[in-house]
Amino acid sequence: GPWMEIAHDLPRLITSHQLRSHVHQMPQLSARHLRGREELHLAHLVLSFITMGYLWQEGEEGTVKVLPQNLAVPFWEVSQALGLPPILSHADFVLANWRRKNPNGPLEIENLDTIISLPGAESLRGFILVTLLVEKAAVPGIKAIVQAIRAILQLDHETLHEALQELAEAIGDMTKALARMHDFVDPAVFYAVIRIFLSGWKDNPAMPGGLVYEGVSDEPLAYSGGSAAQSTVLHAFDELLGIRHSEESTAFLHRMRHYMPPPHRAFVEEIHRAPSLRQHVLSSGDARLRAAFNRCVSALADFRSYHITIVTKYIAVAAAKAKAGRAEPGDGPAAGKPPSALEAKGTGGSHIFSFLKSVRDTTREGLIRA
Ligand code: ALA
Repeated sequence: GPWMEIAHDLPRLITSHQLRSHVHQMPQLSARHLRGREELHLAHLVLSFITMGYLWQEGEEGTVKVLPQNLAVPFWEVSQALGLPPILSHADFVLANWRRKNPNGPLEIENLDTIISLPGAESLRGFILVTLLVEKAAVPGIKAIVQAIRAILQLDHETLHEALQELAEAIGDMTKALARMHDFVDPAVFYAVIRIFLSGWKDNPAMPGGLVYEGVSDEPLAYSGGSAAQSTVLHAFDELLGIRHSEESTAFLHRMRHYMPPPHRAFVEEIHRAPSLRQHVLSSGDARLRAAFNRCVSALADFRSYHITIVTKYIAVAAAKAKAGRAEPGDGPAAGKPPSALEAKGTGGSHIFSFLKSVRDTTREGLIRA
């Protein structure tokens, strides 16, 4: 109850600079009484949002070094129980953070809402829900992976071809879903208000010393902020298609796997261990299979190119406009003063454009040349 009460009021508590004092008055509850996956995920969701609000309430120049015990200890316990890091991750921000307005209605944006929010109003809601729609569009692709691996094991080329068609289509649908960002998210609000709340305390010059989780560890701990690199679906597609990223990008991506729910990480690792699709397509000499494989790789590279277009609008152009003093962000503590630590870095700590372009280019290199 006390957690939910604060979590449901986060935008107001943060913008009126009252969240920290509310957290200080919060009773220290034990996570011991939480039962089952759903309660634990809900607890991780609300505690991670409260933590981000607590940390960034005063912008990047007003951070704190200590997360108080009554928040840090239960957040740590819940994180341990779920195998998730004690920070807001993609699994919280997007995967666990939606509900249907009408329980019998469709999984469409008009019938969806977030559970827990932050400053940024409609743009925040749009950013979360459009990202969710990208995940939803990936679902037939995830099912196609399972079908494809079975088909390889059974040497069933017809089914394999079908699965690859499904996968290419799903990835194309993810790009279409991503395009809806333009309809729901205002770049000035995203850049100046929303981003800071996703950033972490690792590879972030605004929090160089990490964060002490009081009652958990006397030493400060460092965790990366939220990043779409924590989304399981792209890792799964890369593994199936045998995409090899650069050493540096791979290091970041593999580190991000530890920010996924453990069953997701296990799924990705199992795809990695499965017989190589690429080798199978190559040795089959089947031109139709090769074409279907290449359609998947192209669709994935196109998705990543489109992501770069979005990032250019929402970060690079938004940054330039903010600097020129032309941005008109709506509300929030960071209004008018976007965090400087996030100009060239993603909220997960990567160097935005070199990372995204490297990953896109190595995806293209995964095409099988005739
Ligand atoms: N990772 C995204 C960013 O850097 C959310 O803004």
